[in-house]
Amino acid sequence: MKREELLNDLDWRYATKRFNQEASIDERDYQAVKEAIRLAPTSYGLQPFKIIEIEDPETRTQLQGAGYGQKQIVNASKLLAIASLKRFDNDLIDRYITLSMETRGLTEEEVSGYSNFMKGVFSQWSEEAKKSWSEKQAYLALGFGMLAAAELKIDTCALEGIDIQEVNKILQLEASDYHVSVLLALGRRAEEDQNQHAKKVRLDPSVLFETI
Ligand SMILES: Cc1cc2nc3c(=O)[nH]c(=O)nc-3n(C[C@H](O)[C@H](O)[C@H](O)COP(=O)(O)O)c2cc1C
Repeated sequence: MKREELLNDLDWRYATKRFNQEASIDERDYQAVKEAIRLAPTSYGLQPFKIIEIEDPETRTQLQGAGYGQKQIVNASKLLAIASLKRFDNDLIDRYITLSMETRGLTEEEVSGYSNFMKGVFSQWSEEAKKSWSEKQAYLALGFGMLAAAELKIDTCALEGIDIQEVNKILQLEASDYHVSVLLALGRRAEEDQNQHAKKVRLDPSVLFETI
């Protein structure tokens, strides 16, 4: 049953610490995970992030250094860096508006209200608030990617235990409008990774959920 399958897949998923370097993931499945990230909803639909696919082994080794030696960074089949906008202006909104017009065949007149509304909202926000908001959207994309991967029996590990400044330097993002929020390693678990056998540590629903 779909519901059971979903819950089984979510229980099957765990933060993979050791990937099998010999095993690869199906290219179409990997593309589907990327598509899930692309389809993730974001506030106002603005997608204030980009995803960097890191294939270069030398860059991976450097990132491992910035990631306190975590092996997933080099051993995973695929490594993504989700980089969110650390600053943005009306260009971000204009990009969305132009895309909406193209995608939905809308006229300038039809979209100008929403455009002005969004511009008005963000004009009230501090730079810090905008940066933090972008990061939240990036994490939503991370969640969608991880869920999709689990559904396709692809193992993942989100990686936040990294020296972000160093990572930004390695990925040459310092002079750009982006900074890395989180890394996502994808691949196949190594048989010897004992973490796959550990029971999930989760709050009881009665603690986590509240009805009012
Ligand atoms: C945003 C995020 C960042 C994480 N960063 C790391 C990390 O740097 N290194 C690591 O080994 N695990 C990392 N984890 C894995 C968590 O510790 C793990 O998901 C959590 O303990 C729950 O265990 P489970 O995923 O195996 O169910 C991260 C998870 C998330 C969601």
